[in-house]
Amino acid sequence: MNDLTALLPTGIQIGYLIAASLFILGLKKLGSPATARNGNVLSASGMLLAVVVTLLDQQILNYQWILMGVAIGSVIGVIIAKTVAMTAMPQMVGFLNGLGGAASALVAMGEFWRLVHGEATVPLDATITVILGIFIGGATLTGSLVAVGKLQGVISGKPVTFPLQQPVNIALIIGFIVSSGFLIASPSSQIPLFVMIGTATVFGILFVLPIGGGDMPVVISLLNSLSGLAASAAGFVVMNNMLIIAGALVGASGLILTEIMCKGMNRSLVSVLFGAFGGGESGAPGASGSDAADKVVRSIGSEEAAMMLRYARSVVIVPGYGMAVAQAQQAIQELVVLLEQGGVDVRYAIHPVAGRMPGHMNVLLAEANVPYTQLYDMDEINPQFEQTDVALVVGANDVVNPGARHDAGSPIYGMPILEVDKAKNTIVIKRSLGTGFSGIQNELFFKDNTTMLFGSAKEMLGELVSEVKQL
Ligand code: TAP
Repeated sequence: MNDLTALLPTGIQIGYLIAASLFILGLKKLGSPATARNGNVLSASGMLLAVVVTLLDQQILNYQWILMGVAIGSVIGVIIAKTVAMTAMPQMVGFLNGLGGAASALVAMGEFWRLVHGEATVPLDATITVILGIFIGGATLTGSLVAVGKLQGVISGKPVTFPLQQPVNIALIIGFIVSSGFLIASPSSQIPLFVMIGTATVFGILFVLPIGGGDMPVVISLLNSLSGLAASAAGFVVMNNMLIIAGALVGASGLILTEIMCKGMNRSLVSVLFGAFGGGESGAPGASGSDAADKVVRSIGSEEAAMMLRYARSVVIVPGYGMAVAQAQQAIQELVVLLEQGGVDVRYAIHPVAGRMPGHMNVLLAEANVPYTQLYDMDEINPQFEQTDVALVVGANDVVNPGARHDAGSPIYGMPILEVDKAKNTIVIKRSLGTGFSGIQNELFFKDNTTMLFGSAKEMLGELVSEVKQL
């Protein structure tokens, strides 16, 4: 028995090592749609192992309690996963981030409390890590909740600004730093701790409020990264290797994701966070642009569009945010199957920031059982547009705007786009000439080889399916 007890610390570290390896392997597999499900299972198993090992360590909980917790947690997890709408995923991720930040701050504070009441002197490094944990965790919690509110429409998606915003933010940070100094000088006094919690949480709210609703996915990804750092800081406080490793992985992957999103939009993180961009809503007044009325737009009906598609040799489908709004992914796939039965070569073109979250289109199309081999990245598909008979744009706007290539005054200038204007014919399904996320008019709609099929994506695709069936 004694031998077994002596071996426990080694067993725990080995358990942590296996869990960390599962996280890394899982993250690697999340890089491709073909292996992503597998990657998810591996990472989740790593997390389960890490939690169980931690709870068994130092007899925090015995196995009956752990089994009960696993059962209750699994039921809650399954219910949430089954009921959350695909379009509400960013909100859910944001909410879970916020809770992660709060948990890290609570762990850091709990450990600090224990040190203050148990030790003669509290080590300086522990106090500094607690300070970091409270700031990052507190701001992540409230910042994430505001981001969720904006995405859910509970808080206005427009950038919310008020006079003296920057001075107030600076005052909050100074207040936090000064009270941290007091905490270091006198770890057992409680007032600095409460001031720190207050300033960090208010700062989180004020930091996210001025950012436009459309930029929330980038903000959530950044906060996700910060919640990882908060977890790592908490890991240093409680001296837990697993928490340090897991936090660092979340921190690093969140930052990489943030960078990918900014690059895909050709915007810097500074312009996302401080640029008050992206609050515009599609179809808002002035959305059609002042000069749109002077230009000629060709529109067609579903019967003619169905003929163009059915008698084409090659068709490239370009989904965008409108497909997600209309939940038209199933209808698209129905049309694609019909076209393929008729001998048409059909591919999907996926822009890295189409929609409102990374992988938005991939997830929706996977839901409609589109084989991932049919999905082409921007770099692969762009050279193929010139040989494409029909590019069918479904609810996409900014990601197919040719102005991004040459209009230096445009907010999306330099953003890489799907070059559908180079296809022999382009059909655009959307409800109006309204703008997309960036709020600018799309010159694609006025090109000679573009025809508009006006209407909501799901209905129009339904009409196309029945027309194609009759041909
Ligand atoms: P958008 O440029 O946002 O355009 C979407 C279009 O969908 C709108 O113009 C709208 O036109 C149309 N639409 C809305 N409801 C529809 C419906 N029921 N049926 C048919 N069409 C409908 O979309 P996009 O091309 O996918 O570009 C994404 C934008 O979001 C980019 O600017 C990107 O930078 C930004 N963004 C992306 C991310 C990520 S990570 N994906 C994160 C933040 C921001 P109508 O109103 O005329 O129908």
